[in-house]
Amino acid sequence: MNPSPLQDSPLPRQQVDPHQCLQEEHQQMLAQHRTLGWYKAEELRLVALPEMFHPTPGSSSLFCLETILKASRGITAGQRLSILDLGCGTGVVGLGLHAHAHRLHLSDISRRAVWCARLNGWLNGIFPICYRSDIFSAVPKGLFDLIVFNMPLMQAPIRDRLEQTMNDPGGQIFSRFIQGLSQFLAPEGEVFFAYSSLGDMALLDNIPQQYHLEQVAKEVFSELATERYVFRLTYHQ
Ligand SMILES: C[S@@+](CC[C@H](N)C(=O)[O-])C[C@H]1O[C@@H](n2cnc3c(N)ncnc32)[C@H](O)[C@@H]1O
Repeated sequence: MNPSPLQDSPLPRQQVDPHQCLQEEHQQMLAQHRTLGWYKAEELRLVALPEMFHPTPGSSSLFCLETILKASRGITAGQRLSILDLGCGTGVVGLGLHAHAHRLHLSDISRRAVWCARLNGWLNGIFPICYRSDIFSAVPKGLFDLIVFNMPLMQAPIRDRLEQTMNDPGGQIFSRFIQGLSQFLAPEGEVFFAYSSLGDMALLDNIPQQYHLEQVAKEVFSELATERYVFRLTYHQ
């Protein structure tokens, strides 16, 4: 069969609209997160239920986990740590750190996420303490050496379960997380959180002076005109 003239003609030079690319990417991600999925992260096999945040290849989940494994001073020093994974979703980040934990807490505001994280623990022979908590509201008293939060950050309203995994209207989650930290972070402890230029970067300026903020990883997506980061917070010594 002869190729059509259209196939033969040179492609028109197209302007790439980052906003449109971003919208398309976001819609694809939402579609994937509405189904059941199986994933691999480090040595873990993980199931993600529909309407949850999925640890897809290239996701912020894996970006966060891989960065912490490389950047945490406690982990690279070979210490066994008391670890809290806030907003654990499938549990991917916390479970991926379990080999470095003597105490591992996974918590999320979503019942489905807590159930799924516990299931993923069982599937991988890991038995963390899992519970539902609105940020720190139900976290038991005690200090953690490592607190991680791959947090929702899109400045958009929350209208359904899936949007609860991605949206932080008005930066409320970010602010409450930062305000609550001092009651749960050990004096030599480290906090890692993922953030992105899709969120409100000005919120970083509100972090109290008692903390030292470092950007430990950055990825640039030029076609989407976005960047994402992992930050570390420690107390000023
Ligand atoms: C971007 S997802 C990350 C999930 C998982 N940690 C990962 O890396 O794949 C954000 C998670 O935060 C949870 N979340 C949203 N609001 C929360 C809150 N107020 N307190 C605790 N968790 C919250 C969501 O349910 C969701 O599981």
